[in-house]
Amino acid sequence: MALPRIIVAGRIPDAGLDALRPHGNVWGWKHDNPIEIDELYERIDGADAVLTLLTTKVDRSFLDAAGSQLKVVSNVAVGYNNIDVAECRQRGVIATNTPGVLTEATADIAMALILMVTRRLGEGERIIRSKQPWQWGMFMLLGTGLQGRRLGIVGMGAIGQALARRATAFGMTVAYTNRSAVTPEIEAELGAERLDLDELLATSDVVTVNCPYSSETHHLIGAEQFELMRSTAFLVNTARGPIVDEAALVEALRSGAIAGAGLDVYEHEPMLEPGLNDLDNAVLIPHLGSATVETRAAMATLAARNTVAVLSGQPALTPIT
Ligand code: GLV
Repeated sequence: MALPRIIVAGRIPDAGLDALRPHGNVWGWKHDNPIEIDELYERIDGADAVLTLLTTKVDRSFLDAAGSQLKVVSNVAVGYNNIDVAECRQRGVIATNTPGVLTEATADIAMALILMVTRRLGEGERIIRSKQPWQWGMFMLLGTGLQGRRLGIVGMGAIGQALARRATAFGMTVAYTNRSAVTPEIEAELGAERLDLDELLATSDVVTVNCPYSSETHHLIGAEQFELMRSTAFLVNTARGPIVDEAALVEALRSGAIAGAGLDVYEHEPMLEPGLNDLDNAVLIPHLGSATVETRAAMATLAARNTVAVLSGQPALTPIT
């Protein structure tokens, strides 16, 4: 029997490729820049499995280009808003993602952004790098301490909970909003209080976005929500850009409706809303949530294991349900 044809649509760590090779004919894109769509569609024609990155759009055209023999699309990401899951389901294609393995790394980045924006570390770094003379000053770049402040977590899944653990170690109290309550044990462990979104926004010192992106969470945080937030509060987004109305965010940062923002993701990634770049109260990093050597290897390996499981007739380890 012919070996399955496995296409890896973006460059992934060797651990992932090594886990795939014994199970099929593997072709992988080897460059950091994304594959052109025409070449991608040519490569996936006739594939049994495709591993995708969060920048790979898996829609009707992609699925048409692959053909009806396609069995599995394994996203090397936990977020899967790049995949038309309903369309995959209709065509009998299993779609999988990589939950769990990037929880700690992403929570680290959220905590790092909280520290960066509240302590004005980006501004400080820009002073040093400007090579202008500077000296220690009693009132230089005064920030906001975290002890006793409330963290409001929008989306209390695994990453939200991992962030809550970090924040409590920094002396913060935790509130959260989520479709359903976390277990009483977790609430007790984290001292976390469930609030509705409006109350959370109105009472938190730092609001973090940790929910998945979908049509329901599109612009969940916009002009009205910034109005509810304290003028001393900060917003941190490590989930997906379009959950926040970025134009409204720029306005809120400019007008002082909120004190600052730390962003790892952008509404029109990799483009930024005009003006965002010029704001000193915004800390801006380029989608690094899961960017550690260990985590990216674990993501690639999990995606490969999902692929191999489906190709060998087993259930996927982490299917998108
Ligand atoms: C990263 O953003 C991911 O969804 O894995």
